[in-house]
Amino acid sequence: MTIKKVRTAILISGRGSNMQALADAARDDDYPAEIVLIASNRPDAAGLEWAKARGLPTLAIDHKNYANREAFEEALQNALASAKTELVALAGFMRLMTADFVEHWRDRMINIHPSLLPSFKGLHTHERALDAGVKIAGCTVHFVRPKMDEGPIIGQAAVPVLSGDDPDTLAARVLAAEHRLYPASLKLVTGGQVRVEGEKTVIFHNSNVSSPIYSPGL
Ligand code: GAR
Repeated sequence: MTIKKVRTAILISGRGSNMQALADAARDDDYPAEIVLIASNRPDAAGLEWAKARGLPTLAIDHKNYANREAFEEALQNALASAKTELVALAGFMRLMTADFVEHWRDRMINIHPSLLPSFKGLHTHERALDAGVKIAGCTVHFVRPKMDEGPIIGQAAVPVLSGDDPDTLAARVLAAEHRLYPASLKLVTGGQVRVEGEKTVIFHNSNVSSPIYSPGL
């Protein structure tokens, strides 16, 4: 039986390792999303090359070529419409969007952030987590709202902070978790297993994970 796939565009600004994780997952016949566009606001984003080599449709929309945010977003909106996009997944897309753009995609645009939100919104999350001395870090996939790194949480993954960690070692541990969390979260959303109620989500999924994470380990 062929399943109906949700037409998903991925927006990137750089390396695109989360984009790769999503695109790889979407190659599975049973995965409920298909990747119809990879767009970057930076023409030199390394992720674009990877996507091109895979034969995925790519587009660079250089924000520097537009007079203002609205003009850039109009071009982006046109590209998303041409690709008949139903869902947008931000994957290291480092441009703030206007409230109008975000509202247009309300509950149809998701993002991954490398912290356990609502802690450590914004940039330099790993440095700030280490400075705060937290013992558990992680990542969050959420629906996008006009305020940066806010919105109903779809899923989170936690990793321990180990003694001797620096921002790079912590980032690498969190990134490995991102690469599993994001495809799983996109699958839940496009598979119809996520409902937004107020500013929270209800997830229809039988999770058998109930054990706590201890850091330091017991
Ligand atoms: C990822 O760690 C992602 O969580 C983060 O940027 C990195 C992009 O890496 N996103 C944010 O900080 C958004 N606020 P990638 O290009 O290899 O996926």
